[in-house]
Amino acid sequence: MPLDVSTIKADFPILQRKVRHDNPLIYLDSGATSQKPIQVIDAVSNFYKNHNSAVHRGAHLIAEEATDAYEGAREKVAKFIDGDPDEVIFTKSATESLNALAYSIGNAAKGSPFYLDENSEILVSELEHHANLIPWQELAKRTGAKLTWFEIDEDVRLDYSNIDQLINKKTKIIAITHQSNVSGAITDLPAIVERAKVVGALTILDACQSAPHMDISVKKLGIDFYAFSGHKAVGPTGIGILWGRTELLDQLPPFLYGGSMVTSVTMTGATFAKSPRKFEAGVPNMAGAVGLGVALDYLSDIGMENIHNHEIALTQYSLEKLAQVEGLTVIGPKNVEMRGAVLSFTVDGIHPHDLGQALDENGIAVRTGHHCAWPLMKKMKLVATTRASLYLYNDFTDVDHLITGIESAKKFFLKSGR
Ligand code: ALA
Repeated sequence: MPLDVSTIKADFPILQRKVRHDNPLIYLDSGATSQKPIQVIDAVSNFYKNHNSAVHRGAHLIAEEATDAYEGAREKVAKFIDGDPDEVIFTKSATESLNALAYSIGNAAKGSPFYLDENSEILVSELEHHANLIPWQELAKRTGAKLTWFEIDEDVRLDYSNIDQLINKKTKIIAITHQSNVSGAITDLPAIVERAKVVGALTILDACQSAPHMDISVKKLGIDFYAFSGHKAVGPTGIGILWGRTELLDQLPPFLYGGSMVTSVTMTGATFAKSPRKFEAGVPNMAGAVGLGVALDYLSDIGMENIHNHEIALTQYSLEKLAQVEGLTVIGPKNVEMRGAVLSFTVDGIHPHDLGQALDENGIAVRTGHHCAWPLMKKMKLVATTRASLYLYNDFTDVDHLITGIESAKKFFLKSGR
């Protein structure tokens, strides 16, 4: 079903704002963080106004309400990704989810399915943003394992030509992005998961750029771990998700120790609860979790399939329009089946930062820079790109404004001889 974007836009207070020179805000930076609908803002506020209390602890009504709301949010996340609630761990961000997982894997003892040594390989890709690269680099250093990676092809997708060599008997961990935050390329997961199963490697999916934009079933994907952040999925900041399969979470050491994650404690040791409590020491971000639950309901009510189709149409339109701008090069696949609504580009003769600033003068918010994917930028021999990233609240007019903004920046920077 086509999205009713004007009704959706009306749900997002920030999109009613006027910004520079009284221009309406045209927000094209959802790859960095999404805006929040009033339903989410109200849910967070309502939690603090009416239910704030430490979950799983107090012997009073509002503690019970807070616990129900927090655990209810976990159920919503589980439903959203087609997992089991006990497999859903709340963290502070996707970055924390991936770091915590890498850290815990590094603490695994010999005999554990997570144990790594100098005979092991950890496979990533050149498309990774730093959050799904540096934790694995550090894990490789700690354990002696070798870090290997998929290179990119001319479409800035993964190059699968040597997949059988890359995923070999030594490969223990495959930590891969589902969708590049720079090229928008969507990973061919079935090929990777199928090969991973042959060699017995664990698959860890960084879904930061995909979970908010497409219908995903962790069960159907056949992966082992999955991470995404709330703030890119119209949820609050400060809340992230780590999902893992129960039998693996049962064997994964905790990454934080403290209150609420134990079954017993003496002066010399402790025994630990099962997932998810085992991984959620301390008083968690309750309001953030509740807000995320409402955010995922908001997306599900609109329909992830509908959101995805809307983004495909917007991406197709954007690619056609951008292709008509002389001197502009779009990074990544031209085929919308292979990419998401993240459009990085360069314009001959204009530095991306200058372009970003010129667009901002017209109320158009984009991201410029290396997009926390430095190795990829170096591989593409670029220092920076301008990136427009689209979401359910963007429409074709927003894309038209972007094109007009780029054309007027070209006039200013190129024709004035600057
Ligand atoms: N990784 C986020 C981005 O691509 C912050 O902008």
